[in-house]
This record gives sequence, C-alpha cells and structure tokens, in this order.
Amino acid sequence: MTLRLLLACCSLAVATLATAAPPDAPALYRQQCASCHGTDRLGAMGPALLPQSLERLKPAELLATIRDGRPATQMAGFAATLSAADIDALATFLRSDPPSPPHWRDSDIRASRIVHVRPGSLPDRPQFRADPANLFLVVEAGSHHVTVLDGDTLEPIHRFQSRFALHGGPKYSRDGRYVYFASRDGWISKYDLWNLKTVAEIRAGLNTRNLAVSDDGRWVLVGNYLPNTLVLLDARTLELRRSLTVRGTDGAPSRVSAVYDAAPRGSFIVALKDLAEVWEIPYRNGRAGAAPQLAPRRIAFDDVLDDFFFDQSYRHILGASRSGRGQVIDLDAGRKVADLALSGMPHLGSGITWQRDGHDVMASPNLKDGRISVIDMQNWQTVGEIATNGPGFFIRSHERTPYAWTDAMMSPRRDTLQIIDKQSLAVVGSVTPSPGRTAAHVEFTRDGKYALVSVMERDGALVVYDAATFREIKRLPMDKPIGKYNVFNKTTRSSGTSH
Ligand code: HEC
Repeated sequence: MTLRLLLACCSLAVATLATAAPPDAPALYRQQCASCHGTDRLGAMGPALLPQSLERLKPAELLATIRDGRPATQMAGFAATLSAADIDALATFLRSDPPSPPHWRDSDIRASRIVHVRPGSLPDRPQFRADPANLFLVVEAGSHHVTVLDGDTLEPIHRFQSRFALHGGPKYSRDGRYVYFASRDGWISKYDLWNLKTVAEIRAGLNTRNLAVSDDGRWVLVGNYLPNTLVLLDARTLELRRSLTVRGTDGAPSRVSAVYDAAPRGSFIVALKDLAEVWEIPYRNGRAGAAPQLAPRRIAFDDVLDDFFFDQSYRHILGASRSGRGQVIDLDAGRKVADLALSGMPHLGSGITWQRDGHDVMASPNLKDGRISVIDMQNWQTVGEIATNGPGFFIRSHERTPYAWTDAMMSPRRDTLQIIDKQSLAVVGSVTPSPGRTAAHVEFTRDGKYALVSVMERDGALVVYDAATFREIKRLPMDKPIGKYNVFNKTTRSSGTSH
C-alpha cells in the first residue's frame, strides 16, 4: 500500500516534471538531427551546424529551416514532430559553442581525402569543342551547383553538384585546366575542367574562408576560421603537406580572413581577422620538390585589416580596418606608407584598376554609402567620388571596355546596375534586369564584348548584355547565381576583376 502510493506519487511527479521541464535540446539534437548533421555537429550528409557555420543565417531563417525544412533536399521540416518550444531550444543550442572546442587535426584532414580519379588517368586535352580559355564557371548557391558556360555561344555545356555552400571564388590553375573550390564547411574540391570531372576532395577545416593556388600550380593554401589554421595541400593530389595554427607573437590565436596568391612575388599573402598583422609565405625558394615552410614573414600594423586590394605588381596592399580606416602597406618595406582618405565602409577586396590620364587608378565600392571612391595609385590621393544609387558590393570592368559596372545591392535600388565611364567618371547608363530583384556581380567575356550579370535569386538568371550598347542579348535561368568566373580573365589577372 505504502509502496503503491509512493509509486503513484513518483509517477505523478515525473509526469508533472515532464510537462513543465524545458526542452532538452542536446537530447532532441541526438534523436532528430545527429544522424545527418553528425553527433558533434561537424556535419555528415548534412552541413555543419556550429555557431560559425550559421553566422549568415538570420534568426528567423534558422527557425524556419528547422520548422519547414528546405524544399527538394533531405532537410525535412520538423513542424509536425517538434513543438515551437523544442524548435526554439534547438536553435539556441545550435548557436552555442559545443562544450569542448571542436578540433580538426592533421589526421582528420588526411582521413577525409577522397580520390575520385587517379592523377594522370584522364586525357590531356579538352573533351569538348568550346574554347577552354573562354569558359565561365557560374556558382549557383541555391541548390549548390556549378554551371560550365561556353563564353562564345553563351550556352551551358555542363552542370554539376558542388559541396554545400561554396565560399570565396574558385581558383584556376594557370593553364586553366583545373579549378579548386572551397566550401563553407572546409571541403576543398579539385575539378578537371577539360574532362568535366571532380578528381579529388579533402576536408581541410571545419569553417573555411577561401583558398589560393600558387602560380606554379603546385600548392593550395587554405585559410580557416575554425580551427585557426592555415593548411597547405599538394595541388596535384590534394594530399596534406603542412598545417599551422595561426598565432600572434604573444601566442594569441587568430582566425584567417583570406589567403591570396601574390604571383609576381612568388608568395602567398595571409590576411588575419584577429591580429594586426599580414603574413607573407614564400613558396618559390624551397628545395626542389619540397613543400614550402609555413614560416611567415610578419608585417605588423596599428590596426586589424581584413579587407584588401593589391596593386597589379603586388608591391602594395590597400587595406581597410573594420572602422573603415584605409591605409597603404608597402610589402617590400614591410610598413605603412600612406593613409587613404576614405569614408563609409570601402569594400577594397572587390576593387579594380585602370589607366586614366596616364595614371593607374583604383576604384572600390562602398558597403555603407552610395559612392565609388577612385584613388590615384601613385600618390594615393582620392581623385574622384562617384555618387551611385546606394551601397554596393562589386565593381567590374575589362581592359577592352571603356566602362565599369557597379551594383547597389545593399540598398532599395538593389535591382539596378549603374555603368560608369572610366575616363570622365560619370554614370552613363544603367540596366535593371528584373525589377525588384537583386542584380549584382558582373563578369565579362574574354574579349570584353559582353557583360554577364547575375539576378541573385532562387529562380534567378544570368543576363547577358552587349557591353557597348547595354542592350540585353540573352537570359539563362539559374538558381541563385552568386558569382561567375571567366577562365581567361582570371588566369591572366585582368585588372577589371578582383583576384
Ligand atoms: C535526413 C537528413 C537530415 C536530418 C535528419 C536533419 N537535417 Fe538539417 N539539413 C540536412 C541537409 C541535407 C541540409 C542542407 C539543405 C540545403 O541544401 O540547403 C540541412 C540543412 C539544415 C540547416 C541549414 C544550414 C545552413 O547553413 O543553411 C539547419 C539549420 C538544419 N539543417 C537543422 C537541422 C536540425 C535542427 C535537425 C534536427 C531537428 C535537422 N536539421 C535534421 C539534412 C538533415
């Protein structure tokens, strides 16, 4: 009797507890999500779900993804299985750091490598008719695909699935045969463009910014946020050669904001997110066949710079700090040589250069103001301020066109691109590919005759304009085409595009 009463009491207590207790997010995650996203949230069949991975997802988008899922993917909605409180708790859980910091050691990197095609086993010539130097790769972020476009006929010749969320531009080998992609979750893929095949993949980190390929085609350097590492791969096989935990001289760790190939210097340049330093890593002067040492030359500043523009010789870096302060660093001297008169938030990373009045000038869009700043590259003076429709992300041109095209992506006029005369600095035209829908990122054909514009939406398009008359020539449907990359313009380092 006493025992039964006790039991009844207990179960009552348990029942009350169950309804009143807050949702147990870690348990829900283990039951409902871990099978696809990994027990440690590092990703498996589905993407990684760490705070760093979800930075770009707005709070409402995160809730909606868990509730409603993502159409046409394995990510089903949980509205029928989980309560609103459960979904809230899961969202909070995904935004919190795991109890112990996730690691990704050299052994994890090595174990992740996948060889799809044995090196040397594919034909050494393009397996299609199109001019291999006038191909475009179009990164379609919507469903994670890449389209290979013939730049002469302006017709797609192939489309393939990429890793989840490609990050930073794809990088070509100098001969244009291979292209290397980095994904948000750290997957590096090597693709043979002549044979239209992915040849190898490796996971170099858990949260990656971008990669750079050395000009001699031998090394791939990967810059990571998580862990705080630089990872050097053999470009032929994607095998791990070296890795380095990024630290200041005082031992403080730093994320890597970006890595670049400074071809004329024979070195990689590394931009750091948490240190007031830029690093140079030479890759040319080692023993024949030996991987370069990850022993950086440190160049210290008085400010953290995380957005860069290089002049064509890679002698100078124009850098902007988070507060928008601009400065010029002479890489040979290893110090600041000038301040830049910039305001707002210049986006130097997508700056371009051209010749005007016998001088090299550099133009960069602004993330905060509707304005393009034009800077003389000899005396670092601002020689022009071009008022635009609103804050924008990209400016693009080509050696063989008199115009530069820019967007106003971060403004109500996000549907319109403005066209600037590179000599008079006047706005001489505009295009609105789809009223009300975001249009940005221009890339030119190899000859500069056509400008390809992205309508960056799920049911978006690539719109081709005659670069001289600004008339629409053609429209190709695409799934959120965020970027496009012409083999010739990229491998010849056209001054009209960022590198
Ligand atoms: C059957 C496999 C599967 C299960 C189970 C699953 N997911 Fe997913 N999830 C995916 C896939 C695949 C994607 C990528 C969808 C895409 O391509 O956009 C994804 C995407 C997501 C994203 C978007 C990530 C981003 O960066 O855009 C979130 C958030 C997410 N899942 C949360 C969850 C949560 C929380 C659970 C458990 C309640 C869960 N998922 C269960 C497969 C799964």
